[in-house]
Amino acid sequence: MLLLAIETSCDETSVALLRDGCVMANAVSSQVELHEEYGGVVPELASREHLRNLMPVARQALDQAGMTPGELDAVAATRGPGLPGALLVGLRAAQGMAFALAKPFIGVHHHEAHLYSPWTGGEPLSLALDDFQPNVSLIVSGGHTMLVHVGAPLEHRVLGGTVDDAAGECFDKAAKLIGLPYPGGPELDRLASEGNGSVHNFPRPKLRDDSHDFSFSGLKTAVRYFIRDNPGVLEDGQQLRDLCAGVQEAIVDVLVAKTIRAAKKMGAKCVTASGGVTCNSGLRAALKAACARDGFALRLANPILCTDNAAMVGMAAHLRLANDGETTPLDAEIEPNWKLIILN
Ligand code: KG4
Ligand code: ZN
Repeated sequence: MLLLAIETSCDETSVALLRDGCVMANAVSSQVELHEEYGGVVPELASREHLRNLMPVARQALDQAGMTPGELDAVAATRGPGLPGALLVGLRAAQGMAFALAKPFIGVHHHEAHLYSPWTGGEPLSLALDDFQPNVSLIVSGGHTMLVHVGAPLEHRVLGGTVDDAAGECFDKAAKLIGLPYPGGPELDRLASEGNGSVHNFPRPKLRDDSHDFSFSGLKTAVRYFIRDNPGVLEDGQQLRDLCAGVQEAIVDVLVAKTIRAAKKMGAKCVTASGGVTCNSGLRAALKAACARDGFALRLANPILCTDNAAMVGMAAHLRLANDGETTPLDAEIEPNWKLIILN
């Protein structure tokens, strides 16, 4: 079974090829430079860039895998959630390919794709669910922050999510206030690794709240006021690194504490994490330490699968096809606000 998968839900244009669930190619073209001068993703520009890049990226993936479109057995694409114009580009292209080749099409839920990336590993990358354990999964990126209970493959229940900014958005907005280039998360991470986080005590929103929800806009505001009142910290290398470490620790503390609490509450023995912020070195280290302390198995998505990519979309499509063979109609619409609900 040769499957081509497309991801265009936000600012990464990606095409992957999977043979029987093994990743043969995963080409990704990031739009970071395009959106940099605006300090965030501009939806209209993102759609146009996907239109420009999709076919060259598809060609790159096919060449890398040494395959031709005529060999495909199925085509998948992210159907939602995401930016409407951006989703339309990938979905319609995939449906067009499936139509022309008379092959099945699978519309994939973007969060479902993230959920299985921690179970993807090896060389070539493939989905390994033999040692699957019921888990609480943290999906944490620039667009989403949520906790999901995965009782069995394809049995999900959303426990909670952010009520305002996503954690990655908070990293990026705090980094912007600090004067770091967009997207600031990775650079803030680098500076934080040389800083002392205990110099500052930024708010840990909803840390003690019993719900599984998150809120990060108050933390961003606290950083804004701190910089307004202490502009000198940005001029001093060590103070700036300490500030970065303080912001990162506040975000990481909340993410880790709430993930562990949810896992305990759900009686899960395993914790997983995926999404762009899962690249954060502080978050990876803190999740490892907390899971070791509390006796949870931990599966972190491989950093190359953390940020948006089509390989994870292909994995989710493969899983659905293998599960019940259900496909998606060729005239199915995009679902920009698609909720990941109780699926079973
Ligand atoms: O999953 P992703 O590619 O796209 C979505 O937003 O859906 O995640 C991108 C986000 C950005 O906010 C970026 O700053 C953040 O992930 N990010 C990081 C790190 N690497 C990526 N945040 C903190 N530390 C990092 N090392
Ligand atoms: Zn994502």
